[in-house]
Amino acid sequence: MASLHDEESRQRRFIEKLPKVELHAHLNGSISQQTIQRLIVLRRQRDPSWNSSCENATLESRSKTLADCFAVFSLLHDLVDNEEAASIVTNDVIREFAQDDNVKYIELRTTPRAMPATGMTKESYVRAVLSAMRKSEEDITVRLLLAIDRRTSIEDAADTLEMADRLRKETNGLVIGLDLSGDPTKPAEKFIPILKEAKKRGLKLALHIAEVNNMTDESRALLSVPPDRIGHGVFLHPDHGGNAQLLRLTHGPKIPIEICLTSNVTSGTVKVIQDHCFSQWRLIGHPCILCTDDKGVFSTSLNEEYILAAKEFHLSFEELWDLSLQSIDSIFESKEFKTELKAKFLSAKERCFS
Ligand code: IMP
Ligand code: ZN
Repeated sequence: MASLHDEESRQRRFIEKLPKVELHAHLNGSISQQTIQRLIVLRRQRDPSWNSSCENATLESRSKTLADCFAVFSLLHDLVDNEEAASIVTNDVIREFAQDDNVKYIELRTTPRAMPATGMTKESYVRAVLSAMRKSEEDITVRLLLAIDRRTSIEDAADTLEMADRLRKETNGLVIGLDLSGDPTKPAEKFIPILKEAKKRGLKLALHIAEVNNMTDESRALLSVPPDRIGHGVFLHPDHGGNAQLLRLTHGPKIPIEICLTSNVTSGTVKVIQDHCFSQWRLIGHPCILCTDDKGVFSTSLNEEYILAAKEFHLSFEELWDLSLQSIDSIFESKEFKTELKAKFLSAKERCFS
């Protein structure tokens, strides 16, 4: 009889071979330790007296509050303060997802950010990211969402919409839409007219909704836009702090939910994985996509998220396969593209199960 250890090894090998899509990855939250070390060396060449708390503050302990996570983002932003750093980060993050997690299609998201001290503007930052995306030689398709930070002003958010619209046309669809993220306790209803305008112009919307509890009114308003995908959605289901109306708004039009298990448990919005609403949504056949959120900050990977889901929710190899394949239905691409990507996945199926 196979031991538990053998079973786990078999499962890990299967998941490593599984082709995947990643639909919820914040660029700067996805930076690995190796890249951080590389950026520190570069920064010190420029400024020998520079001292960063990044070295010891990067997320050694697994348990953090949301405030801890946001403190880490500031440290990372301090390090990625110029176009070269943005380009290195983009290149490394794409390579890691492609090579380590066997991701074949990824939608990265990032907040346009200016750094007056180095001359980096919001647009030169985004252009550096796009240029690194184009140069990638990995076997992976990469798209970009521009993020609106909940803490920002309406004017800034409107600028982000204009930039996304312009760059989508200019890059022939490398930029595909908008994300709404940032401190989930900050109200976001003021951005709704901008989000509606974005939809009107054909941009896709992936919005962080109900990442924390007690945001029922805001969640209802954001779901009514409606978004094309929901980030987290931890408190929408009636069994998890939501209610019947939020369930209807989410499940009626089957708005896919980006599930970030480690992120939710580490930041404390979900106490233990077994309590995660992922199981409730699966039970009613709602489209769910396993994602990392911030693989650097939360010390995870997409493989680890699949392993965790398999273990905690008792998923068979076939169920894991279906979960990954069906994620393709939720990507922000054309029908033809999805069909081709599914064919690519299916051509890898036999090797996966062997
Ligand atoms: P960036 O946009 O590439 O700089 O990635 C980091 C940013 O993503 C953070 O400053 C936040 O605004 C956002 N972010 C990352 N993770 C989360 C999350 O779990 N909830 C809300 N916002 C997040
Ligand atoms: Zn997120």
